[in-house]
Amino acid sequence: MGWRKNIERRTHMTTSTLGIIGTGPVGAGVARRAVDAGLDVVLSNSRGPESLTGLITALGRNARAATPAEVARTTDVILAAVPFAAHERLSRAELDGKIVLDPMNYVVTDEWRRPELDRDELTSSELVQRHLAGSRVVKVFHSIGSPQINQLHRAGGAADRTAIPLHGDDPAAKKEVAGLLDVLGFDAVDLGPLAQSWRTEPGTPLYATPYVPPAPAGLTPAEWVEWVQAAPGVPLSAARVEELAAATVRGPAGFRW
Ligand SMILES: NC(=O)c1ccc[n+]([C@@H]2O[C@H](COP(=O)([O-])OP(=O)(O)OC[C@H]3O[C@@H](n4cnc5c(N)ncnc54)[C@H](OP(=O)(O)O)[C@@H]3O)[C@@H](O)[C@H]2O)c1
Repeated sequence: MGWRKNIERRTHMTTSTLGIIGTGPVGAGVARRAVDAGLDVVLSNSRGPESLTGLITALGRNARAATPAEVARTTDVILAAVPFAAHERLSRAELDGKIVLDPMNYVVTDEWRRPELDRDELTSSELVQRHLAGSRVVKVFHSIGSPQINQLHRAGGAADRTAIPLHGDDPAAKKEVAGLLDVLGFDAVDLGPLAQSWRTEPGTPLYATPYVPPAPAGLTPAEWVEWVQAAPGVPLSAARVEELAAATVRGPAGFRW
């Protein structure tokens, strides 16, 4: 496959389109970066393409709206930026054979929780892969906020280029996603299979905090999320990602409000 920006696509018949399901901060934020980096994006949500007119206008002519089914039919690499509880509603048949980027974090609520995750038997991404049995799931974009994605991108080789961790069970899919990250302006650090993705889940040292300055003390979880969304980005090197991942100890899964 291989990623090519629009300007290069005129002479190379290669992938230049990112599919996106879910247009909250993550879907819309990654779309912004992708368009700015020269890719096409096809976006979808649960309410239908007509509800995306404002976002498509803001993103510009390299963005278009579709249904999730059309995104799956027309693109090979698809960001599933939906609430983790909604992953079971992603279509296994439509996403069969596709590379699915999983940015979803397990949010523990009284109404919805998964005992396998609470017992640390599986990671949330293993459950996503189990549901999307024929897809090639790569865990990525779950540990960095989209404001920071849109601030920290740098050209390849820049001394302060930021690294983003990824996990997956399919080496070729991970290579493809590393290529996408490079086009978006980031280094990729492969931290192993989906079973290891607890190393970058909520509550770990690699989750969100190293990409922002130290947060004020005493914030509630909701206030912390709001603070991160407004915080300036702090570059994080690949070496530091590896160091933090190696030192991480597995704790209780999920983000607790
Ligand atoms: N917010 C962050 O800073 C952040 C950072 C890293 C990772 N994450 C994770 O990334 C994921 C996305 O987070 P988010 O905050 O951007 O958005 P979100 O509030 O979790 O998800 C909202 C989006 O998902 C769509 N959606 C829900 N169910 C769907 C379905 N069955 N089919 C198609 N679309 C569906 C919604 O469609 P409608 O618009 O039509 O309702 C909406 O566009 C979450 O799992 C979250 O845990 C979030």
